[in-house]
Amino acid sequence: MQESRKIGIVGAGWVGLVTGGCFAELGHNVIVRDIVEERIESLRAGRMPFHEPNLPEMLEKNRERLRYTTAAEELGEADVLFICVQTPPTYSGDADLSYVWNALDDLPRSERRQILVMKSTVPVGTGDKVRAALEARNLSNVGYASNPEFLAEGNAVRDFLNPDRIVIGAFHEEDAVSVEALYSGIEAPIVRTDVQSAEMIKLAANAFLMTRISFINEIANVCEAVGADVVEVARGVGLDHRLGPHFLRAGIGYGGSCFPKDSLALKQLASNSGYHFQLLSAVIEVNELQKRRVIAKLQKHLGKLRGKKVALLGLAFKPGTDDMREAPSLVLASRLLAEGVEVRAWDPVARPTELLKGAQICDSVLEAVTGADAAVIVTEWDDLRTLASDAVRDAMARPLIVDGRNLLDPDETRAAGFAYEGIGRPTSPFEALAQTAEPPPRVQR
Ligand code: UGA
Repeated sequence: MQESRKIGIVGAGWVGLVTGGCFAELGHNVIVRDIVEERIESLRAGRMPFHEPNLPEMLEKNRERLRYTTAAEELGEADVLFICVQTPPTYSGDADLSYVWNALDDLPRSERRQILVMKSTVPVGTGDKVRAALEARNLSNVGYASNPEFLAEGNAVRDFLNPDRIVIGAFHEEDAVSVEALYSGIEAPIVRTDVQSAEMIKLAANAFLMTRISFINEIANVCEAVGADVVEVARGVGLDHRLGPHFLRAGIGYGGSCFPKDSLALKQLASNSGYHFQLLSAVIEVNELQKRRVIAKLQKHLGKLRGKKVALLGLAFKPGTDDMREAPSLVLASRLLAEGVEVRAWDPVARPTELLKGAQICDSVLEAVTGADAAVIVTEWDDLRTLASDAVRDAMARPLIVDGRNLLDPDETRAAGFAYEGIGRPTSPFEALAQTAEPPPRVQR
């Protein structure tokens, strides 16, 4: 039986609540502190501030070991304090560490030796700065470790309890030992390293995942030009054990609260140090262009877009979450609205924001596609696997599906009477012409 410790969590956001809930599950006593009163009250009342599968059950099951508070003093009781605050991009693209510094300012003085653990994604060098800030505040008895999170939204509880690895970078061996002990009960390789390398592991892992996505998206674009099928290509490539099958799903680009911001932060970190990270710059640019490719696909089938109706199916940046931060749906909606398209949007959990102003929000897929000239699969929700149905085909003004996530089988979809456009999949030029509103241009001889 492992020793139960008292853990403080700074920030009741998505990382903080998953971390707190999972440490409670491992038998520790957890105090979650946030500055937002309403959030703490909701949590005390058992209400979740966002959608994350399995998290509500996890918090409920361990409620005896979880305490929510706005009072910073209560963190003085904790042996280990996890900083789980947001690090959004500043205007320059660097990570904004103001929430980290605020957390440090609020740190209560404690008689016991506490360890501060950075879970938030921060630039390399943050640990050194925090260390110096602690010294300056006469808090040199407070230890410090970097222990980045590798949680994917929608899967975060499972990722925490079954991680590929646990990375711990510390200035002092005893702190690394204490942090490692908190995870006892979890089977995973432990990477013990220095603070800077731990910080870089997180940034490099995300950058590599994004590189794979932009790489396969570019391969998809070439596939379209030469008549290959990227789904087949990814399968064949991914079976090479040196490459592996993950993050090779071509689509309309990555979004979310992490990749876009972390790629910019790493790019800025490199350039602030005098290095131009060309590959990462290309990864970011490819992703931006990829989101917009849907527009060209719609134009190919519909001709001029002004006055057309388009259903955007899925608003969250990926399934399993209600998070719409940096979601491709936002770029698509605003581009389509600018083209004079009537946008009808649907998502099973994400609630529309100001950013979707101008789009008509629908309660069901059928409502969204009724009268539509095209349906675009933006997020690969399971509900959309049955999109190519008689009911949908009959409800649409034109039965055209642009599958931004390669969710459907092209042959089955065409057999069901739809024109189909995936990403990086062969299309028939006749299909496009048959759907075009305007007559095909005359060839001048
Ligand atoms: C990502 C990482 O996967 C986590 O390991 C990391 O901890 C987290 O960021 C973070 O830094 O906090 P997340 O953003 O929740 O997690 O979601 P992912 O599942 O990684 O998906 C990110 C985006 O990539 C989504 O928009 C998804 O649609 C897209 N994607 C993913 C693809 O387009 N193709 C793929 O093959 C995989």
